[in-house]
Amino acid sequence: MQDVRRCGVNLDYWWPVAHERSFPARGLLGVRIGALELLVFRSPTGHYSVFEDACPHKRVRLSRFGEVVGSELMCGYHGWRFTAQGKCSLTPGFNGLAAKFCLKSYPVRQYGGWIWAFPGDPARTEERALPVIPPATDPRYHPIPMEGPVHCHFSYMTENATDLFHAQLHRSQQPWVNPVLLHLESDERTVRALYEVEAPRLLAALIGQRGKNRIQVTYEYPYFHLASEDGAFYLFVVYVPTSSTSIWVHSTFYFRHVFGIPWILAIAASGVGSGHLPSGVWAGSPRCGGGTKSL
Ligand code: FES
Ligand SMILES: [Fe+2]
Repeated sequence: MQDVRRCGVNLDYWWPVAHERSFPARGLLGVRIGALELLVFRSPTGHYSVFEDACPHKRVRLSRFGEVVGSELMCGYHGWRFTAQGKCSLTPGFNGLAAKFCLKSYPVRQYGGWIWAFPGDPARTEERALPVIPPATDPRYHPIPMEGPVHCHFSYMTENATDLFHAQLHRSQQPWVNPVLLHLESDERTVRALYEVEAPRLLAALIGQRGKNRIQVTYEYPYFHLASEDGAFYLFVVYVPTSSTSIWVHSTFYFRHVFGIPWILAIAASGVGSGHLPSGVWAGSPRCGGGTKSL
């Protein structure tokens, strides 16, 4: 049996790599999925591409030494240029060489405000669907995306998210109390748990109904969903492994509009959404410099 704390990353899925709202103005972002180093490129017209983060000439890291020039990506070392499709269009000083080179590119999608890449076997791109996030296409919901690094193996965070019994950790900021596990089922890829919780407080008091509420938790590798049965809120999270002891958290809280005051929800979310175990809690995990941030 595999040690879950050492479990690697399966690249044959759609992985979120960036969010439209927080994308750097310079149009380039370097990201990691496991050991894979990727470059997310946004053209001036808003088209996203994902490439290997290495110039095919001398393997220079393009997220650091590249720049967007016109509608193209230019490597800062010798000035080679690449189109949004990854084709090399210019090799200064070497006429006729450009046609022989290209950037390694990956399939890209946009959904729920996130940019997704498929870094695995290209033949499986169509077979693997993007996760379905119902509130992402429902205008009754207000999305609050958050992202940031956490220094631990992704299994710890997955466990934490599916475990509604860790109220102790949240002290006075518990979003609900007295959870009862009503149902639990799992298979090779999925864990589903149904909880009943009581007296929603803080966030839930703002947007949910008082009294008992049911929370459906679903982890379907590598996607995590938490939905309140009354439809008041929905949380979607992906813990993207960036090494064996670190992850980048991509998440969106969706709140059903209440009183048309989304900023109240944003304040509530900042108190609850980032309230999970602080980094450095687990043995062997270094302290983390930055926390999850709201976009
Ligand atoms: S290393 Fe990129 S152009 Fe030479
Ligand atoms: Fe928590």
